[in-house]
Amino acid sequence: MKYISILGSTGSIGTQALDVVRGHSDKIKVAAISGNTNIELLRKQILEFNPDLCCVMDDNNALELKKHLPPHTRTEIVSGMEGLIAAAEYEKSQIIVTAVSGMIGLKPTVAAVKKGKTIALANKETLVTGGNYIMNLSKKYKAPIIPVDSEHSAIFQCLMANENKAVNKIILTASGGPFRGKDKEFLKTVTVEDALKHPNWSMGKKITVDSATLMNKGLEVIEAKFLFGIDPEQIEVIVHPQSIIHSGVEFIDHSTLAQLGLPDMRIPIQFALFYPNRMENNYKSLSLTDIGTLTFEKPDLKTFKCLSLAFEALKAGGTMPAVLNASNEACVKLFLDKKISFLDIGNINEKVMLSHSPLEIDSIETILEAEEWTKQTVKKYI
Ligand SMILES: NC(=O)c1ccc[n+]([C@@H]2O[C@H](COP(=O)([O-])OP(=O)(O)OC[C@H]3O[C@@H](n4cnc5c(N)ncnc54)[C@H](OP(=O)(O)O)[C@@H]3O)[C@@H](O)[C@H]2O)c1
Repeated sequence: MKYISILGSTGSIGTQALDVVRGHSDKIKVAAISGNTNIELLRKQILEFNPDLCCVMDDNNALELKKHLPPHTRTEIVSGMEGLIAAAEYEKSQIIVTAVSGMIGLKPTVAAVKKGKTIALANKETLVTGGNYIMNLSKKYKAPIIPVDSEHSAIFQCLMANENKAVNKIILTASGGPFRGKDKEFLKTVTVEDALKHPNWSMGKKITVDSATLMNKGLEVIEAKFLFGIDPEQIEVIVHPQSIIHSGVEFIDHSTLAQLGLPDMRIPIQFALFYPNRMENNYKSLSLTDIGTLTFEKPDLKTFKCLSLAFEALKAGGTMPAVLNASNEACVKLFLDKKISFLDIGNINEKVMLSHSPLEIDSIETILEAEEWTKQTVKKYI
């Protein structure tokens, strides 16, 4: 029996991870879960999965949850960052699914790595901000990082067949989001509701907006660089609107492997939870004849500048990716709160990057200080 902790069990990835557990309850059990605002769902999850530990980020929400649980519920309720770290370090858990959204995932992921846990990494912000610092910790503490992001899971699976050093390039696919093919004039007036209509995937709000700006692909470029130890010049982003080819790898002999599947995040989640084994499930099978046509385009880097900013952040190195990520987090929140426009997201990210001089990352504090600096700097540009 494997035990897991799910950080962010109430979110899109978290609930799908629980669905994977539901399908394999004889092999995998949930020891710890966490949420932030959705205490009704946490209550249901506690009753169904009976975890030892549940963290609610907000103290008041934690008290509220306790009130609504039946007497004699055995699950211990904890709160705050301490509670989230307790769920990440939980002794019984061998695998930690990091499915919180944003940089809040950094500290608990580092804590889990230092305990030598296997990380099923959905929270890409951890690698984007921590980069080589996280990868070095993962080596030092023998804590494998298995990607959950469908693109990185695809690349990981392609690389399983070959050694890393034989790679020519990584082909990272992008759906293009809801505004594929649109120009700046069109984007001037798009609303939050428009940006939240992703054509293929149903995801949390932050990543859905990131998919619309192509920042999500930018963050994935940064994630891929660190996860696979590859140069940014070896990463080619292509737009593939059907989201069937999840990504691929071209090797030095110009042979290319790709991983295909329907857009269903339970597939890469299940892969990460049972790696290196493959398990059966009852998910829908891919029928290429039903799909008929797969198409590919170059991304429009001029209109969707967030993707180019990600490559620039990698070139600048040090704390620059963390700054871009923190700026983007702040901007997406401002956009969702209807305080800035869609195009402001890229424009502010660019201004923040231009005013930052990157520092080498030697500790988690350097990353958190860069985040704080960024939060203050974003305010200047609103
Ligand atoms: N969704 C996808 O298909 C997908 C694919 C690839 C990668 N990812 C990555 O996976 C991560 C999660 O994405 P998602 O789409 O699942 O997000 P989501 O649906 O918004 O869920 C986020 C989870 O984090 C919790 N949370 C939010 N703010 C928090 C805070 N300040 N402190 C503690 N917990 C907090 C939420 O709790 P409450 O709901 O209780 O408030 C929820 O459980 C992101 O890093 C994303 O980039 C997602």
